[in-house]
Amino acid sequence: MKVKNLSKIFKVDDKEDVIALDKINATFEKGKMYAIIGESGAGKTTLINILGLLDDYTSGEYMIDDKLADKLNEDEKADMRMKKFGFVFQSYYLNPKLKAYENVMIPMFINNEIKKNERKDKAISLLKQFGLLDRVTHYPNQLSGGEQQRVAIARALANDPEVLIADEPTGNLDKENEKLVFEYLKDICNQGKCVIVVSHNMIVKDYADKIYYINKGKLSEK
Ligand SMILES: Nc1ncnc2c1ncn2[C@@H]1O[C@H](COP(=O)(O)OP(=O)(O)O)[C@@H](O)[C@H]1O
Ligand SMILES: [Mg+2]
Repeated sequence: MKVKNLSKIFKVDDKEDVIALDKINATFEKGKMYAIIGESGAGKTTLINILGLLDDYTSGEYMIDDKLADKLNEDEKADMRMKKFGFVFQSYYLNPKLKAYENVMIPMFINNEIKKNERKDKAISLLKQFGLLDRVTHYPNQLSGGEQQRVAIARALANDPEVLIADEPTGNLDKENEKLVFEYLKDICNQGKCVIVVSHNMIVKDYADKIYYINKGKLSEK
């Protein structure tokens, strides 16, 4: 993915426009882990929402696989959101009424490329990959924060995306679990995926191949 002079301006009623992204340039490749570091309000979530096709941009260019994002129709975008991107959020967003493996299965229900009878095994093998084989039938409230986040990471990989985007994934975790989550994200990257981690936690620097800093909507490499 490549963005060129990308800007996002929010207009709210008669208030002054918010320039959330100000002509940013960046490239994201497979097999690399990227950190996007910035203070609260800097524009981090806005940027990854645009990268993940969850939001539009105001001006500039966003190329995915040599296609301009704003030339994709809604069906193409929906298909990419499902198969190309996996998302992990600070607050996990697990369904409390579903067991760990059922939570991981959810994205598979909208992907007819994964056969019905393969979904459960796939969910369990993903949980195993993140050290949760003995937690597959636990409900979210029976799991620690670190375990819930690992379930959320497994779920983000359910449809085998090329890109994993994590928005402050360790924001609610203690130091030890934070390290574990970054290590697992690094593993995912070493398996050939593009991993983009948004954080205001400097520890992410120890894991990233490339670091972008964002400040008041401006992106830099220093
Ligand atoms: N939907 C929106 N409408 C108006 N302003 C928004 C909206 N989303 C974000 N903003 C503003 O854009 C700026 C960047 O926000 P955000 O990307 O959420 O920052 P971060 O994730 O780095 O904390 C902030 O000033 C925020 O208030
Ligand atoms: Mg944010």
